[in-house]
Amino acid sequence: MKSLFESTQEVLLSKNIEHKTQATQKLRQDFEDGKLNHENVFQIKDVVEAGYPLFLKFVAPKDLPRRRLGSPLGKVALLHSLAHIEFNAINLALDAVYRFQQMPRGYYADWLKVAAEEAGHFQLLQNRLVQLGSAYGDFPVHSGLWEMAENTAHDVLVRMALVPRVMEARGLDVTPGMISKLREIQDSESAQILQLIWEEEIQHVSIGSYWFHYLCQQRNICPETTYLRLLNQFFSGRLRGPLHQEARLQAGFSEFELAALKQLATKN
Ligand SMILES: [Fe+2]
Repeated sequence: MKSLFESTQEVLLSKNIEHKTQATQKLRQDFEDGKLNHENVFQIKDVVEAGYPLFLKFVAPKDLPRRRLGSPLGKVALLHSLAHIEFNAINLALDAVYRFQQMPRGYYADWLKVAAEEAGHFQLLQNRLVQLGSAYGDFPVHSGLWEMAENTAHDVLVRMALVPRVMEARGLDVTPGMISKLREIQDSESAQILQLIWEEEIQHVSIGSYWFHYLCQQRNICPETTYLRLLNQFFSGRLRGPLHQEARLQAGFSEFELAALKQLATKN
């Protein structure tokens, strides 16, 4: 039987958009159909550079264009930045599969489902950009999104804490505001796409919470204090609020964690 990890590596490294999105869906299907083996360990490449399309222009966050919903150009720039976040999310979910090879079957099923849904999100936004006369690659993109994958590559527990439960969780807070603004400017198509993404993203963060708790239990450590310790150790950015309490509770945050996050966000 083919190795899940070898097959995932090939998709992770792919720089071709069409190929990556389709192969991600196929990977999920093949794993569900029992065609890929997750029990043989595959030699991980030392440095994996996730594949991004060659036409993308990467710039530092401070050099990104303004993404305000007030103007048509600002709206397209915002949708473009979201498309890039989703493209990156495909790579992040694939890397969660590829890099950590000692996890139970359910872990791989979960992250392949996430990867396939992220590919779906990307395609929705890519199509919307085309409808609005633009395309993925028309604007420069954030160069720092893959960094957190590199910084957390040594430990699946750290990865689960920082990528789904810090980076992706921020999307749960900010997306509802974008949806309201899109409705205000009568763009219900874009609003609907963001609504679907938001709902699925709650599930993705809760998958991160589930495996984070699983690993804490296995190592016999307290999830709440561990989460805050890892946040302090690995997250150098600014924590921002306000938090979307309800979505975050649904995604597996505890009241204690949310109170601590709220306090950290107000200090900034
Ligand atoms: Fe997504």
